[in-house]
Amino acid sequence: MSVHISAKKGEIAPIVLMPGDPLRAKYIADNYLQEVKLVSQTRNIFFFTGTYKNKPVTIGSSGMGCPSIGIYSYELYNEYDVDCIIRIGTCGAYSTDLNLFDLFNVERAFSESTFANAAFGYPRDHMYHEGKAYATINETAEELMMTVKKGPVHSSDVFYRAAKRIPEIAAKNDCLAVEMEAFALFANAAYLKKSAATLLTVSDIIPTQEHISADQREKSLLPMMKLALESVLRM
Ligand code: HPA
Repeated sequence: MSVHISAKKGEIAPIVLMPGDPLRAKYIADNYLQEVKLVSQTRNIFFFTGTYKNKPVTIGSSGMGCPSIGIYSYELYNEYDVDCIIRIGTCGAYSTDLNLFDLFNVERAFSESTFANAAFGYPRDHMYHEGKAYATINETAEELMMTVKKGPVHSSDVFYRAAKRIPEIAAKNDCLAVEMEAFALFANAAYLKKSAATLLTVSDIIPTQEHISADQREKSLLPMMKLALESVLRM
């Protein structure tokens, strides 16, 4: 048990897939895993451990934002000996170079967040993916003939804002899209010398306000789930 996760030691696999939403974690566990066990439900943040094609894997939710993923990923790495966390989430595209449903593997995350500096004294506004997971995802996508875009993302602390223009940090660093968690996940992985990747599906295009409809959402995330699970097999 850790402060926020009630699984016993040994009930979490070395590789964890982390959607933001607890019900998405349940969906993946119900539809893709065998021998599944719900190992933690503290605060309704579900963690399921099972096997995918005989490989042990845990699917656990991160909640939203850097503070939330910062807590769960730290405890997983530090107290459950997790080697690798792959966040699987959605992002809003700043540019029409990305299309709805595109897959995006985050090379580094820029943020105005104080998380990395406050936690570890990293005085930086960006953190890179860590370890082999990023490359494994790209190689797996090639093998499966799936297209994955790569580049920098903006990890924002803010979902609703007054100004309509693209935030300065994102414009200056050519961030193609915005999400809210990769920066803290990568900071924890850097500090603890672990592997971390963030694989995203474009759920909205900010300049045109196009978005994936509620009933398309579940199905539209299937390619990302499949790619993440197949990547786990190659790690
Ligand atoms: N902002 C932040 N995070 C997001 C968005 C967004 O517009 N879309 C999906 N995740």
